[in-house]
Amino acid sequence: MAVTYELIKTCKQTGARRGRLHTPHGTIETPIFMPVGTLATVKAMSPEELKEMDAQIILSNTYHLFLRPGHDIVKKAGGLHQFMNWDRPILTDSGGFQVFSLSKLRQIEEEGVHFRSHLSGAKLFLSPERATEIQNDLGADIIMAFDECAPYPAEHDYVKRSLERTTRWLERCIAAHDRSEDQALFGIVQGGMYRDLREQSAKEITSFDLPGYAIGGLSVGEPKSIMDEVLDYTVPLLPAGKPRYLMGVGSPDALIDASIRGIDMFDCVLPTRIARNGTCMTSEGRLVIRNAKFKEDFTPLDPQCDCYTCRNYTKAYIRHLFHADEILGLRLTSYHNLHFLIRLMENVRDAIMNDCLLDFRNEFFEQYGLSEE
Ligand code: GUN
Ligand code: ZN
Repeated sequence: MAVTYELIKTCKQTGARRGRLHTPHGTIETPIFMPVGTLATVKAMSPEELKEMDAQIILSNTYHLFLRPGHDIVKKAGGLHQFMNWDRPILTDSGGFQVFSLSKLRQIEEEGVHFRSHLSGAKLFLSPERATEIQNDLGADIIMAFDECAPYPAEHDYVKRSLERTTRWLERCIAAHDRSEDQALFGIVQGGMYRDLREQSAKEITSFDLPGYAIGGLSVGEPKSIMDEVLDYTVPLLPAGKPRYLMGVGSPDALIDASIRGIDMFDCVLPTRIARNGTCMTSEGRLVIRNAKFKEDFTPLDPQCDCYTCRNYTKAYIRHLFHADEILGLRLTSYHNLHFLIRLMENVRDAIMNDCLLDFRNEFFEQYGLSEE
C-alpha cells in the first residue's frame, strides 16, 4: 500500500486524533495543513522556504496542470516531484472541483465533464479515467477520485443524483488506477448538507477499501455552524484506521474545530491568497497591512510569531512594500501566513498529546477574537 495511517493518540478532552501518514516521500504528522501549490508552485514560495517553515506535504491540481503545461511535460520531467524540485509528499486534487468552479460551459454527463478551458477557451473533457491517468502521470503520493462537488444550496434530489454518480465515478477511478503500489487513491464523500445523503455517500464510498477518505462538498458558502453539524454526523461514518481529509478548509477556527471532530488533513488557498492582498493571520486575528495605522508601526506582524518575516521585518516596512507594489511584500506575508497555519496545527498536535485540545481551542478563539461558544 502506498500510504498507511498510524493512529498514535486520541485526545481525551475532544476525541481529536494524533496520527502519522506514511508515504513514499516521507512521513506526515497529522492533523496537518497542506499548503496549496495549484500550478506546481506554492505561489511566491520556494521549496526551500516551505521546508524551512516545516511544510510536510503540499497539494497541486490536476485541472491546472492538465491545461498548462500538460501532464505529458510533467511526466517527461520525471514527475511532479522532480519537475518542481519538491522531494516531500504531494497530493493532487482530481480536477472534479476546479472544473466546476473555473471552467466555462461545462456539461456533466455520466461519461465525464465537457468544458472549455478558462485560459484558451479550448474544448476539453475530463472523466474518471482521464483524471486518474493524468494523476498517474503527475505522480503524487496521494491522488483524489474524480467527483462532483454539488453547489450550495442545492435541492435534495440533485444532490442525491450527484453523489450516486460520484460513487459510480469512484468505481471507474479505481479500475483506471495504474499505480496503486506507489500512489494512494482517496475516495470523496459528498451529499451536500443533507444527513441522509451524507450517510448514503459515506456508506457507498467506504464500501471500497481505499487507503484514505475525504469529505468534499463543504466550505462552499455554507455557514460554519452547518459545516460543524455535517462533520458531527459524517466523520463517525469513516473507518477509524484510515486518514480523513476535509477538502478546501483553511480558516484557523475551522481547522481547530474539524480536528476536534476527527479530521486529519486539510488544504486551502486562503493563507496564500489573502497574503497576496496584504491580509495576515495573527494570534490576535486578521490584520490588513495596507492600513494607515501601521505607517509608523515598527513591530512585527505578530509579536507571538517566530517566522522569518516576523524575526526580521516590521509592519511599517511591509506596509511600505505593499504600497510600492514591491514583490517582497507579498512574499513576506505569504511566508508568515503559511507559517502561522503550520504552527497552529503543530500546537493542535501537541494539545492532542496532552489531552487539552478543548482548552487550547478556547484560548485561541478568545485571543483571535472569535467569541462564540
Ligand atoms: N476541494 C474542495 N472541495 C472539494 C470537493 O468537494 N471535491 C474535490 N475534488 N476537491 C475539493
Ligand atoms: Zn510571522
